[in-house]
Amino acid sequence: MAYTRVSWDRALETGYTIVDNQHKQWIAAVNALFEAHQRSKGRKEVERTMAFLVEYTLKHFNDEEELQEKYGDPHSLAHKQNHAEFKNVAQDLAAVLHRDGPTDELISHVCVTISRWMFNHIKQDDLKMAAYIRSKEQQRSKTKRGWIRLYDGKN
Ligand SMILES: [Fe+2]
Ligand SMILES: [Fe+2]
Repeated sequence: MAYTRVSWDRALETGYTIVDNQHKQWIAAVNALFEAHQRSKGRKEVERTMAFLVEYTLKHFNDEEELQEKYGDPHSLAHKQNHAEFKNVAQDLAAVLHRDGPTDELISHVCVTISRWMFNHIKQDDLKMAAYIRSKEQQRSKTKRGWIRLYDGKN
């Protein structure tokens, strides 16, 4: 399966800026791996971009998990399990790349696998997470406004 450059679009928007920016970076990291190979930057450089992609994936998962914990998201366990499964997939792909070296076929396989998982995951789990956080934040600001009205004697 040949890889074609992927890009961020509104369907992936969670409305949570930190998360959206990380998703954009994540997509850029997959494209960077593909381009490093396309431009024949050498095995070392390709492996370096792959290492960055894996590292960024782990960082991003970690940040989302902290966010879910902070807001007490009831879907956090299932979300975390999906992250854990994909961490293994990404690390295995990096190991295969290190063992076999970059070929057109392998780089396409890596980029297609990661980008497909990424897009599905954002649309399923991350959008759900963002909706929950938004509802919690709205609840909080409503409560806060209620207290302010009470304090001002306008209730
Ligand atoms: Fe995410
Ligand atoms: Fe996620």
